[in-house]
Amino acid sequence: MPRPMDTSSPADPITAADVDAAAARLRDVVVRTPLEHNERLSELAGAEVWLKREDLQPVRSYKLRGAYNFIASLGAGERAQGVVCASAGNHAQGVAYTCRRLGVECRIYLPRTTPRQKREQIAALGGTVTTIVVEGHTYDDAQEAATEQARRQGSVLVPPFDHPLVVAGQGTVAREVVEQLGRVPDVLVVPVGGGGLAAGAGVAMSDAGPGARARVVGVEPAGAASMRAALDAGEPVTLGAIDSFVDGAAVRRVGAYTFGLVRDLVDEVMTVPEGAVCTTMLQLYQRDGIIAEPAGALAVTALSSGLAVPAGATVVCIVSGGNNDVSRYGEVVERSLVHEGLKHYFLVEFPQEPGALRGFLDNVLGAGDDITLFEYVKKNNREIGPALVGIELAVQADLEPLLARMDASGLHIERLSAGSPAFRFLV
Ligand SMILES: Cc1ncc(COP(=O)(O)O)c(C=O)c1O
Repeated sequence: MPRPMDTSSPADPITAADVDAAAARLRDVVVRTPLEHNERLSELAGAEVWLKREDLQPVRSYKLRGAYNFIASLGAGERAQGVVCASAGNHAQGVAYTCRRLGVECRIYLPRTTPRQKREQIAALGGTVTTIVVEGHTYDDAQEAATEQARRQGSVLVPPFDHPLVVAGQGTVAREVVEQLGRVPDVLVVPVGGGGLAAGAGVAMSDAGPGARARVVGVEPAGAASMRAALDAGEPVTLGAIDSFVDGAAVRRVGAYTFGLVRDLVDEVMTVPEGAVCTTMLQLYQRDGIIAEPAGALAVTALSSGLAVPAGATVVCIVSGGNNDVSRYGEVVERSLVHEGLKHYFLVEFPQEPGALRGFLDNVLGAGDDITLFEYVKKNNREIGPALVGIELAVQADLEPLLARMDASGLHIERLSAGSPAFRFLV
């Protein structure tokens, strides 16, 4: 096992014994989170579905495991120098919690966009040993500042995923699943950001014995599919623009170390649309009483997004985190409705004359169609004026008749297609 200061190389893979060592280090630190059977998802998948509830860790995500395993492995001299990290969320909480517990000073670099609630949570977990530095607009800015600071003060930078000790720590989730289930599951579904958890799960499952191996499936958000891109290219690549909605897993470039392990030990990596993740978050909340953040809902989303599992198979999905800001639910509901085909946007050219709107309501809207947005500014010097109209349908099948009535109305109506710049501006 390399020391924390070593720069890891993919040629130096860890084994299940390293995950065992991490589990021993973490025994009195992490909560042995519940593994719960879920009837609803079992019916949906035609299998026996279990959820590993890492949203119930003290920092509300599994990230504590890797951070603690890494920092607890530092020598006394390295600890005395303090540690540094950059993060916009869960990694920072894991580092802050660990440092308070071990009495190690830490400086945590957060981008300016980090919500106040998250800053306060990190500060509360980190206590007096933690200094929060808000630097730059993006995670990359914060990362640059943290790297520079670590170099200046001769401190260790705690990596969020790309290190053997972090991977081994994250792998303890999968190890625990096997202990709790009493056997290796048929399928283990894990979220993928930089690849730390997926790599760790792959390693933990790698010595379960012939025939006893779980099929490990990694799940990425479609808007930030950096592991898929890396697997296709044969090496990590840096994505250009990414959709950062699934913030925990929206990573531009996966790790060099994690990539090698995922390539060799993870059976498949699939992508799921952000809208489907939103639907899963709402169902977990409303049907199961589980608060999952977007990254925390990725693995469960695979079940409704084409993951094929053998009938009756034992499937474990890792619910990896529950740090969701309540202010995000508006966007979650919106993206879910669009994904389900229930919410649509149009630009309607209304003649600027009395009765035009009434005609639209009477002749175009169906009984179950609900206007959720209407923006119109009357301009007296024009004959027609466009209005932006959002319509929510009762069921998806109402769309075709609505479009047919629009065609027949004689009005010029443009549908804003999901994914167009105008649509992205709205949603
Ligand atoms: C809740 C949650 N799930 C999944 C991930 C992705 O993790 P990894 O970088 O280990 O692939 C993260 C990363 O921060 C996370 O916070």
